[in-house]
Amino acid sequence: MTLHARIIGTGSYLPEKIVTNDDLAKIVDTTDSWIQERTGIKQRHIVADDEFTVDLAEHASRRAIEAAGIDASEIDLIVLATTTADQVFPSTACLLQSRLGCQGGPAFDIQAVCTGFVYALSVAEKFVATGTSKKALVVGAETFSRILDWTDRNTCVLFGDGAGAVVLEASEEPGILSTHLHANGDYSKLLHVPSGVSNNLAAVQEGRAYVEMEGSDVFKMAVKKMGEVVIEALDANNLAKSDVDWLVPHQANQRIIAATAKKLGMTMDKVVLTVAEHGNTSAASIPLALDAAVRQNRIKAGETILIEAFGGGFTWGSALIRY
Ligand code: UT7
Repeated sequence: MTLHARIIGTGSYLPEKIVTNDDLAKIVDTTDSWIQERTGIKQRHIVADDEFTVDLAEHASRRAIEAAGIDASEIDLIVLATTTADQVFPSTACLLQSRLGCQGGPAFDIQAVCTGFVYALSVAEKFVATGTSKKALVVGAETFSRILDWTDRNTCVLFGDGAGAVVLEASEEPGILSTHLHANGDYSKLLHVPSGVSNNLAAVQEGRAYVEMEGSDVFKMAVKKMGEVVIEALDANNLAKSDVDWLVPHQANQRIIAATAKKLGMTMDKVVLTVAEHGNTSAASIPLALDAAVRQNRIKAGETILIEAFGGGFTWGSALIRY
């Protein structure tokens, strides 16, 4: 018997506070029309002062677990993608595990920035498809607002906070058909936060503890690599572009998404777009979009979904999913 990993529940959560483009125009030299024209973003959600990544992850996870119709105690693996872990350690996945009360199985974080959810899904899929885990919780959760320089209009208008989650179950029916992960660390300085734990001092002293991005270079590379990785996923499964029912892309920029859709010959009504409502939520963006489309009854059982992402590292990846 061949085992597969199937998605049996999705959930997501956005913090209450909404910051519009006009709100940002009061603190940096920008306009609503510039942001909308260049990115498609209208607003983003930002955490309260006392709200943390694990809080967002917990809300999204509880919703996914409820949608799956299981008890949290049945979860035997947690893989959580985040760039904005609450603590140096323990991992946010361990903090989440305690909140959910599903102790005992492995729980760990994955760091692949905006590609984090695709990486996490790929890792969890391997645990489930080999029979190591029976029910896995895969989460993307970010408080990106905490690593933004709110005086830098090049970056602060682009990102937001949020979380999304899926529950995977071992099944004889295909679910995740394939995953495709890539990285090229030679480009690390085009999109990064220069400070961290080990090299903290110099960067913090220079005031470089926030996201820095060469937007136009990242844009070009993102279009190129996402175009390649969606074709890679189709070829691996001997599927034609027309076999894809839904594209659920990383929500960084509507123009990047439109370029990938064009490459696939897909009309925009087959693309799940949430970037206008919450901007780029990094690792949370794909599960947030997936959950929105599922709850709107757009994505239906048996349909074929293509997810793809590009982010800091550079990292990029895709997955084909039979829902
Ligand atoms: O999640 C994965 C990683 N991130 C991405 O995928 C993001 C990739 N990059 C992008 O989405 C786009 O490059 C941006 C939205 C960041 C920028 O759009 P662009 O069309 O590439 O613009 P640009 O960087 O070429 O900048 C055009 C102009 C510049 O002014 P000058 O030099 O032409 O006078 C910028 O200073 O726009 C200016 N600009 C702004 N103006 C108003 C940059 N940010 C802003 C702003 N408001 N917020």
